[in-house]
Amino acid sequence: MSTKVAQILPAVDSTAVFKENIFNGKVLFCTGGGSGICKGMTEAVMRHGANATIVGRNLDRLNASAEELSKATGKVCLAAQADVRKPEQLRDAVAKTIEKYGRIDFVICGAAGNFLAPISGLSENGFRTVLEIDTLGTYNTIKATMDHLRKSKVASKPNLVRLGTPYQVHVSAAKAALTIFISSPTVSNVVAVEEGPHGVRSNVIAPGPIAATEGMERLRPAFSGADKAIISAAGREGDIRDCANAAVFLLSDAACHITGQVLPVDGGNMHLATTQ
Ligand code: HXC
Repeated sequence: MSTKVAQILPAVDSTAVFKENIFNGKVLFCTGGGSGICKGMTEAVMRHGANATIVGRNLDRLNASAEELSKATGKVCLAAQADVRKPEQLRDAVAKTIEKYGRIDFVICGAAGNFLAPISGLSENGFRTVLEIDTLGTYNTIKATMDHLRKSKVASKPNLVRLGTPYQVHVSAAKAALTIFISSPTVSNVVAVEEGPHGVRSNVIAPGPIAATEGMERLRPAFSGADKAIISAAGREGDIRDCANAAVFLLSDAACHITGQVLPVDGGNMHLATTQ
């Protein structure tokens, strides 16, 4: 079904809603923070007072983003190169963070590998690669940071998840596994249950299609054609700030009794709409 896009509830900056000092003295460690949704989450958390480390494979992009984030927020942002598939590289990134700031309070496991491919066009190695980045990479990130999160006692771990999307069998498998081991509304929210007694909270942020992201650039032509927008029941495409606001809330003390949950940021159901 096709409807006109209507801007019903526009996206807002988190500072319009939350106090600017709520994360003063805190440190965020964010994989995938060099671009897209995770960069937006990092910026929002920094705007509320935190310093941050962004982690990824592309050092040039990380350095440019770290500089941009520092300038935009007035806080310190460290760029640490690591492939989340390599535990020793993640441990190095954590060591650099501790050397710089002395602590890690928040972890966002956002590094993701993705491409659209039908099962018939997906090799075993393609399937394995996405599982290794998304699932194993998240496990590696949790392992590398857990001791520091336990020390800080205030941590939370949003992650990204999308389930059941066509051409995404590899990603659906990877994110379904994550949903169970990190956070889920079932009794299987392993990290939340194991780490709750240590003061660590663990939640999943599950974005729908979010405008101005690499994922959306790939999704739009595949699902709707260049003349269409992918909108939601809320009447517009998702905005990076919508995800950032969810992260700020989940990392804040206002969410201190929320753990083991999946928070969709998808505006309701997905619809297609013409852009004119
Ligand atoms: C089918 C593909 C493919 C494609 C790669 N492969 N791209 N198969 N269709 N479009 C296969 C390759 O042929 C190879 O299998 C295997 O995957 C590994 O590919 P490599 O390029 O060797 O791996 P690597 O260099 O490690 O790169 C990982 C990657 C890459 C996931 C393939 O795309 C990447 O690094 N992405 C990081 C950035 C990213 O994806 N961001 C998107 C996040 S957005 P064979 O059998 O040939 O050896 C997001 C939401 C998006 O998560 C939602 C919509 C897409």
